[in-house]
Amino acid sequence: MFSKSDAQDFISDLLQFDLAHGRESGTWYKFHNHVYGVGYLAQKMADVLGYIDPEKAWILGVMHDAGKIHEQLEQRFHGLIGYEFFKDKDDEIAIISLTHTFHFNRIPPYEKVEKMFFGRREDYNFVADFLAQHPANEYDKLIQMCDSLANCSGFVTLEQREEEFSQRNNMSVPDYMASGANLLKDFFDKRLGRDVYSFYEEIPCDFMLTPGNDYQ
Ligand SMILES: [Fe+2]
Repeated sequence: MFSKSDAQDFISDLLQFDLAHGRESGTWYKFHNHVYGVGYLAQKMADVLGYIDPEKAWILGVMHDAGKIHEQLEQRFHGLIGYEFFKDKDDEIAIISLTHTFHFNRIPPYEKVEKMFFGRREDYNFVADFLAQHPANEYDKLIQMCDSLANCSGFVTLEQREEEFSQRNNMSVPDYMASGANLLKDFFDKRLGRDVYSFYEEIPCDFMLTPGNDYQ
């Protein structure tokens, strides 16, 4: 299993890779704040839940989008890029790469996610078969939840995240996505015995980068 410092090194290497492939300097905070936000929120929730290893939750949170940086370059669903890269290196990071996008590990029909898969039907079929054999475990659900709550500037509500999605993609949030996120939040609010949003003020935000600053 990747350690915390392995994860940090990996993310730093991704920055170097991305800068070398045309990323505008000063924009890294967008990726950094999202993945570390997912990591710290997942760790915090795991602390309270008690049946999830907080360190593993942090590592999987930070690593869940590892394939994202290569997505446009390869024109391929980032979850599959991450899965293929990690399948021989770290099983759990490989699996979280594939599962984090699909709430409760349920994938919509191909027609609804064709764009996400860059029109590659064979990739969709692989992911759909994988998910059919892999019911969502506690880590899958936790990272799916946190992925919906952390963005480039901090922790947000589901409604704010949906609004951001709409603006970025110039389309309204698909029903399957909105309802899955709401179901996940109900699930965790009940398990935690408190509103997930109430954790936000307890997480120190000193990990965050500000726009224009690629390094901490
Ligand atoms: Fe993400």
